[in-house]
Amino acid sequence: MRIAALCGSLRTGSYNQALLEAAIERGAAQGLEIVQAQIREFPLFNQDLEADPIPAVAEAKRIIQSADAILLVSPEANYSVPGVLKNAVDWLSRPFRDPTLIGRPMAVIGASTGYMGTIRAQLAWRQMWHFFNAPVFSGAEFVLPMAASLIDEDGRLSDTATLERLDAYLAALAEWVARYGSPS
Ligand SMILES: Cc1cc2nc3c(=O)[nH]c(=O)nc-3n(C[C@H](O)[C@H](O)[C@H](O)COP(=O)(O)O)c2cc1C
Repeated sequence: MRIAALCGSLRTGSYNQALLEAAIERGAAQGLEIVQAQIREFPLFNQDLEADPIPAVAEAKRIIQSADAILLVSPEANYSVPGVLKNAVDWLSRPFRDPTLIGRPMAVIGASTGYMGTIRAQLAWRQMWHFFNAPVFSGAEFVLPMAASLIDEDGRLSDTATLERLDAYLAALAEWVARYGSPS
């Protein structure tokens, strides 16, 4: 099962990137091949630019379209979704009726330095996904609160209890993708 993942932070030393890397590593044991689609080179969305293909957007679309599901690894910004990832989703949704996101099953996880661990951002993503008429994974939730204390000095998620929670989440996700994943 192939999962295309987007990370909503471009920061060096990002806790969300560390979380995604842990998911990539540990997903393999659950039969999940998690492949990151990079959004760093996406410009700010401007409908004037839609006519000419943007290589970074085209490459991310290619990865997502070959995946059974999409995994958003999202920080929380001001109690909602971060602009950088919303900008990417806006690009990936265009032009109108582009097949990249429509019907594509979605799961969301995230890390934050706050004690709610991105739960409000995750709810906002779920609400947004109604537009894409796609299944959204609800069988388990994964938040990483107080991330600064759980990522080690090498920038890795190494806290045993958190990794066990992540394994349980990925196992439930794998079961769901096997049932609802879209055909490649
Ligand atoms: C503009 C901005 C808004 C933020 N808003 C929230 C928030 O609403 N909730 C929260 O838990 N953390 C918030 N934070 C703190 C982030 O959780 C923290 O910066 C985290 O490290 C971001 O993820 P990253 O490490 O992957 O970049 C905010 C940070 C920024 C820069």
